[in-house]
Amino acid sequence: MAPNAIDTNFNSDPENSINNLKHINNGPQTTEENNGSYALKIFQSSMNLLAHILIGAVVGASILYSFRSSLPLEQLPLHIVLCVIGYQLLMAEAILGLCPHSGWADSLRLVDKRRVHTVMQILGSGLAIAGSIIMALTKTVNWDTLHGQFALVAMVFTTVSLVNGLTSLYAYEFRKCLPGNISKITHICFGIVAFVTSGISLCYGFDKQLFKNWAKAPLAYTLMGFTACFTFIIIINPAITFFKKTVRIFK
Ligand code: HEM
Repeated sequence: MAPNAIDTNFNSDPENSINNLKHINNGPQTTEENNGSYALKIFQSSMNLLAHILIGAVVGASILYSFRSSLPLEQLPLHIVLCVIGYQLLMAEAILGLCPHSGWADSLRLVDKRRVHTVMQILGSGLAIAGSIIMALTKTVNWDTLHGQFALVAMVFTTVSLVNGLTSLYAYEFRKCLPGNISKITHICFGIVAFVTSGISLCYGFDKQLFKNWAKAPLAYTLMGFTACFTFIIIINPAITFFKKTVRIFK
């Protein structure tokens, strides 16, 4: 069993308990501190809510486009459905679920947040990689467009991040050949690269003439803006964690 999956013996919410201890040690918080943390909490939940809405719009529009013609789906719409659900829905929500004030994962214990994150990442990565391979197999010349090239980078980093995620989960068992911190830092870094490049690939997908013929150019550009916006919001928290962990290593 992964140590991270059982690292709370009986503690229902370790992060809260740690915060409560800090609170006790530092004495009563001032009104100013309370107002500051309340404002930060409201800001984080508003950002996360905005990200959820934008994900819904982008994934919804892509699915509407893919299901506009008859079933069963051909390769092109199938690759869009698999990639968008894999990267922009499951992977995005898997990252958001680990952020504070993410909405749906707030009431989960840290140990369960990690479990949900692992399941969603495995499922999301599987769908996204399958969608990318399906489309690559239908082409005779591969990786000749920016859309395909960014998708390839996303696919490679997704695969590495998936393997790396397992070594982070089993950091204790792997400690002899791979220090736990390095494993976690590289997992965050590879995950950010995979998610950002999948977003860039999606924007190049929305820029394709066949998509603009259906959605019209203004909507296609709006969807690109939405994708850029939620991708940025989603990577803020992992980027901060990455920075903090890296600084701690060098101290
Ligand atoms: C995150 C979302 C997406 C990913 C990861 C993705 C991935 C891929 C991959 C791997 C290929 C094969 C590239 C190659 O072998 O050269 C491809 C091709 C293609 N995709 Fe996507 N795709 C996504 C979204 C879209 C969207 C929204 C459209 C909109 C119509 C689209 C349209 C196409 C087309 C037309 C091709 C064939 C031409 C080309 O390679 O550029 N894709 N995609």
